[in-house]
Amino acid sequence: MNPDKNRQTPQTNPYRLPRNVMPKEYSLSLKPDLENFTFTGEVVIVLNVNSPVSEIVLNALDLDIYVYQLTHGERDIHITEMAFDKEKEIVTFKLSETIIHKPWLPTAIWLRFRGELNDKMQGFYRMHDKNKKVIGAATQLEATDARRCFPCFDEPDMKAVFCVTLDVPANLTALSNMPAEHTHHLSNGHKRISFKPTPPMSTYLLACVIAELESIGGRDRKAVPIRVYTTPGKKEWGRFGLKVALYALPFYTDYYQIDYPLPKLDLVALPDFAAGAMENWGLETFRESALLINPAEMSAAAMERVADVVAHELAHHWFGNRTTMQWWTHLWLNEGFATFAEMLAVAKQFPKWKRQVRFVAEDVLGALHDMDKKNSHAIEQDVKNPAEIRELFDTTTYSGGSVVCGMIEQYLSPEGFAKGVNQYLERYAYANAETNDLWRELGEANGKPVEKIMSSYTRQPGYPVLLASEKDLILDGDRVITLEQKRFVFDGSDDSAELKWNIPLGYISKQNRNPYFVLMSDQKYMFAMRPPEESGWIKFNPGHSALYRVAYTPRMWEQLADAIRHHELPEADRLGLLDDAFALSHAGYIKTSDALNLLSAYKNEDSFCVWTVISGAVGMINSLLRGDPNQSRIAQFARKLFEPIAAKMSWDKPGHPEENPEILLRALAIRNLGRYGEMETILEAVLRFTAYLKGDPLDPDLRQTVFSLTCEHGENSFFDSMMQIYDRTDDHQEKIRVLRALGAFKDENVIKKVLAFSLSDKVRAQDTPILLNNIGSNDTARKLTWEFIKENWEELLRRYHGGGFGSITRVLQDTTSGFVTAEDLNDVEKFFNEHRVPGTERAIAQSLEEIRSNMAWRARDLENIREWFANNA
Ligand code: BES
Ligand code: ZN
Repeated sequence: MNPDKNRQTPQTNPYRLPRNVMPKEYSLSLKPDLENFTFTGEVVIVLNVNSPVSEIVLNALDLDIYVYQLTHGERDIHITEMAFDKEKEIVTFKLSETIIHKPWLPTAIWLRFRGELNDKMQGFYRMHDKNKKVIGAATQLEATDARRCFPCFDEPDMKAVFCVTLDVPANLTALSNMPAEHTHHLSNGHKRISFKPTPPMSTYLLACVIAELESIGGRDRKAVPIRVYTTPGKKEWGRFGLKVALYALPFYTDYYQIDYPLPKLDLVALPDFAAGAMENWGLETFRESALLINPAEMSAAAMERVADVVAHELAHHWFGNRTTMQWWTHLWLNEGFATFAEMLAVAKQFPKWKRQVRFVAEDVLGALHDMDKKNSHAIEQDVKNPAEIRELFDTTTYSGGSVVCGMIEQYLSPEGFAKGVNQYLERYAYANAETNDLWRELGEANGKPVEKIMSSYTRQPGYPVLLASEKDLILDGDRVITLEQKRFVFDGSDDSAELKWNIPLGYISKQNRNPYFVLMSDQKYMFAMRPPEESGWIKFNPGHSALYRVAYTPRMWEQLADAIRHHELPEADRLGLLDDAFALSHAGYIKTSDALNLLSAYKNEDSFCVWTVISGAVGMINSLLRGDPNQSRIAQFARKLFEPIAAKMSWDKPGHPEENPEILLRALAIRNLGRYGEMETILEAVLRFTAYLKGDPLDPDLRQTVFSLTCEHGENSFFDSMMQIYDRTDDHQEKIRVLRALGAFKDENVIKKVLAFSLSDKVRAQDTPILLNNIGSNDTARKLTWEFIKENWEELLRRYHGGGFGSITRVLQDTTSGFVTAEDLNDVEKFFNEHRVPGTERAIAQSLEEIRSNMAWRARDLENIREWFANNA
């Protein structure tokens, strides 16, 4: 297998720039016009000419370039033509003569341009207050939108120094990657700020923010100044984020064994921001909910989110910003690594949060569920144009990439892994690297064959399932266990490519709780254990940290269920095992009743993360049986399941101080009890909501649950109450709670109101996808949401296509993938055949796969499920 030979290179990919001219230094001035929603700019790019050239090609998109000039030494070279190629997003300057590089003759191109200060949260964009008044501007340049802000060599390996100047109204704060060097006050009420030169860096990391801002700050151990900026009145809400940054910066300095590379770090909460946050070097930008928490309204969920995001973006400052992927094919190096590192930093700062277990519940299980489609992509995925690049910011890249890091860390030891990472970051400092470069450094630092193992996980799509079989020997009763690998596809289909993995196979057993590891590189692996009654249960994938599933034998499942009942397995193994069982039943390897039998063993569970998996499994079966007369049995079963844990936790905070997992479990238990119709819980929620509406306090940790239950089961008039709450607060955490809760309504008329609200002026464009995701995954509202999406397709495309994190793609996937009938399948298929959008194809193909497999699962196991609930509810 050698995917390299099909890979595009700068020479073969028409979207890539030629390498005969490379940028050395940009002097970039930008002047936003906040009244007219435009900006003007000027850039001088000092060039390295490596071979004779008669034209210069740069990226530029939606820019009007009205002055262009090229100097070569003392001479001006005449530019005979300027030609835009909108599809390739490039501009070509044809020269009247061929220029040849002479080191003593500097070459520079000088351009003046203007563009729209757009409202799409990409490139150079304008921001609004809640009355839609424009209050500032910011940049979001990853992945390929620097070209919308200034003409440039917009590829990650074309690093250069940036000297930024901003011309802005004097009353506003202007920030960029580096500290300011000079500020000149101009006579027209403006000021011109020049910032210090950056280190050599990629275009996508450049950033500017201009707005009225206030800030708080501190210094880390080595005196690096860190500041959190917010719009006026909110700076105290930045305290918690600042605390995390002040911890994470020295944490990474120690972990990477490399000092923080810049003289300052700013974190800015922006009122309009497409993604969650962005790691611009020295100037991280965030949406408010990912950085700010009102100290009077602290909730465990918000704190964990903020800590994750701050730690994630900071991890990039070394891994990503200082050493950058060679090309977007290796995006996972950035995002997978930062997702892994974020967990290390948060786990160390907040040990009681059990962040490592959440890593398994979210990233390992997330990756397993994302990488099991026929249309899954390899972690190292060849991409050639902006649409494909955008599509790559997905769960496989983030979670799959982070799990790959965890697997190799486990194989090498944490110290050995960190040593290799340091070696990699030093060797490629201020430069670019590919996946193999990381493997090489990790391998050399540890004397181990890293590339061989990891390539099987990063260069081919998917991951394996191990089919277990066992035989008891007649002679001494020993059990011989055989494992055979094949690709796991979530609908149970076979992969004709017959892929094979090098699996870091491990297990724990009743007899030996210390994980034992071997490398399984063959199709089959066989080993012997003491007789079954003596050896007891055996659980593969210890810590559930690697990408593979195991289809156990019936006897093994039974022994494992026993182990669950007796609380003999660690948290991560408990939740992983349950997830394996349901995924295997979905794929038809085992009966759904077998998975449900296993689930029944979790009655006395006490871990929050395990309960999230239980809740997900029950929810999935409930969705699958939508409309079935037996559905009420599931609700009955679920109430019984969640009752004891909810009773134990109660509504009010206990006398003792609680840790986050406990706090989150309370909310989850109450949410489920209410969701499945427990009347007392619902009444209590509505009561608490009504009191809160009138001004009584309501525990921030229960607020989402209370809001959601109120919408889900309360009167239609609660729509107006929700609007009141939405309008009366400036706290983004609270607004989001309302948006999520609105997604729970069940009445057709209210659902229609909620959908109309989602595109109204009251909801920021950045937040519409949150609301649509929630309402689209509500079984009762799914169909109406889908109709709404189709009706408003043009508007959704106009707003979001190209926006951060393919937010529209998520909405499409979450809404359509839950359909379970042939009629819906045809409708979805037909619509997408008629409305093709580059950058959403894979997600749509996966949704269609999911609908088909839901149908197949239902057809196969419906009777089996009905029967199980008849006997067990
Ligand atoms: N580099 C990304 C931001 C980004 C995403 C830019 C998509 C362009 C397209 C940033 O580091 C990131 O990953 N942000 C995450 C948060 C993180 C905690 C997973 C996000 O925005 O959700
Ligand atoms: Zn990231």
